[in-house]
Amino acid sequence: MKDFLLQMLACPACLPAHSFLKATVRRHHENDILEGDLRCETCGQCYPIHDGLAFLDPFPARSPHRGNGYESPKALASYLWSHFGDLLADPEASAAYRKWANLVAPDEGPALDIGSAVGRFTFELADKCDFVIGIDKSASFIRAAREMLKQGSKTVFLPEEGLLNREVTLRIPETWRRDNIEFVVGDAQALPFRSETFACVASLNIVDKLPRPLQHLAEMNRVARHGQAQALVSDPFSWSQEVAEERHWLGGKTSQPFAGRGLDNITALLRGDHRVLPTAWQIENRGHVWWKIRTHANHFELIRSCYVKARR
Ligand SMILES: C[S@@+](CC[C@H](N)C(=O)[O-])C[C@H]1O[C@@H](n2cnc3c(N)ncnc32)[C@H](O)[C@@H]1O
Repeated sequence: MKDFLLQMLACPACLPAHSFLKATVRRHHENDILEGDLRCETCGQCYPIHDGLAFLDPFPARSPHRGNGYESPKALASYLWSHFGDLLADPEASAAYRKWANLVAPDEGPALDIGSAVGRFTFELADKCDFVIGIDKSASFIRAAREMLKQGSKTVFLPEEGLLNREVTLRIPETWRRDNIEFVVGDAQALPFRSETFACVASLNIVDKLPRPLQHLAEMNRVARHGQAQALVSDPFSWSQEVAEERHWLGGKTSQPFAGRGLDNITALLRGDHRVLPTAWQIENRGHVWWKIRTHANHFELIRSCYVKARR
């Protein structure tokens, strides 16, 4: 973890209180803490850093995440392919991340890609801001993203058909920035950052994957600056009882709260209509991006992800 991140961090277990983390560094290289601990000065919770990777999830043991598929080698191959297929000159590669990035105006200050998975949108945001952090609950996704960042490449076995795989090496083009990016493990519902830190916050395809989507939006709102900030939220709104109890859905139902469409309700939340988010946003535009998840050589899911872009 780049050591200057320390000044942006707050203990995610103490939220909404702002408790700072104190670093014990055991191994350091240039500006990176490679091995060490971050200890909360208030509650004493300890967040390890191993191989440069900071684990800032406040309750990893309570998390059902390990069982939900994002940690499996299959999911990792699928996401690497879906995010970086264009680097293989794959004619079926998705242009979705470029399209989302085109919605973000370049600006000064740091950006946060919440639920970054293996990091394609984080790499896209690196061109738009001073510094960008990708955060995800999946350690395997974040480890892969960090490998792409540090080595500039990653070798992966892409599923062809049945038990057949194809070994490929994804190489980050020389033209992509890699000097202003970091990836950390953490929870989108308890972000390990101080309030009003980010000039740009993005939440792509994660709202319907969380047990408490409203808590995630409140956290996204908390860490965004109160002025001169951009927010991009995009989601297919595939609400599921397996992920979140219906009463926590932000749409896709007839009962209150949040009856109706997810995009309309999130737009209203950002605008401040429900007075749930303390600082309101101005809505710039809404639309959708066709997004693709590859599963094997002959199969992908085509997903309509509906977005709202806002500023304040
Ligand atoms: C459908 S994927 C979308 C990934 C990426 N944003 C994209 O658009 O390609 C959902 C992501 O959310 C992550 N995720 C699920 N629950 C999370 C949580 N509580 N906190 C942070 N990330 C989470 C998953 O590991 C996965 O990477």
